[in-house]
Amino acid sequence: MLQNTPRSILFICLGNICRSPLAEGVMRHVWENSGRESHIHFDSAGTNGYHTGEAPDPRSVQIAKSYGIDISMQRCRQLVRDDFYQFDLILGMDRVNMATLAQRKPHDASAQIGLFTDIAGIGDMEIPDPYFGDMSGFEDVYRMVLSSSQALAGRIAIEG
Ligand code: 4NP
Repeated sequence: MLQNTPRSILFICLGNICRSPLAEGVMRHVWENSGRESHIHFDSAGTNGYHTGEAPDPRSVQIAKSYGIDISMQRCRQLVRDDFYQFDLILGMDRVNMATLAQRKPHDASAQIGLFTDIAGIGDMEIPDPYFGDMSGFEDVYRMVLSSSQALAGRIAIEG
């Protein structure tokens, strides 16, 4: 359930090189092709900062490109305290991300925080970390991110 119509959405994963850059790129693509006029700011960040400044993982870049989406210009950054005030909606990919967000969330944070699939309304599923696997894991992530993005865009269009 969306608490408000989001005008800014931040996608969170552990490293901000595999899942959340893909979520940012796919959701932006879905929203911009939805025919809705309203602008939404999309961004992504990682709970850790191991890859700060890096481009997304080449496998995420490749899978996005194969579906006509360019995420190669995105750069990894770490989640900061200000994000909890600057974004309307912060979406984690898995339960570890959610636990970290709950820990770091300031008591007066204004953002709504939730699991991406759950807020999108496609179920209460984790989008699994594909980093140590092969390309099939990135295909799975892409499919889940696409379904979630389409469902979330529909939900924003109806509720917003
Ligand atoms: P992500 O995947 O959270 O989807 O970006 C990972 C990327 C890097 C690492 C772990 C997960 N890492 O351990 O460096």
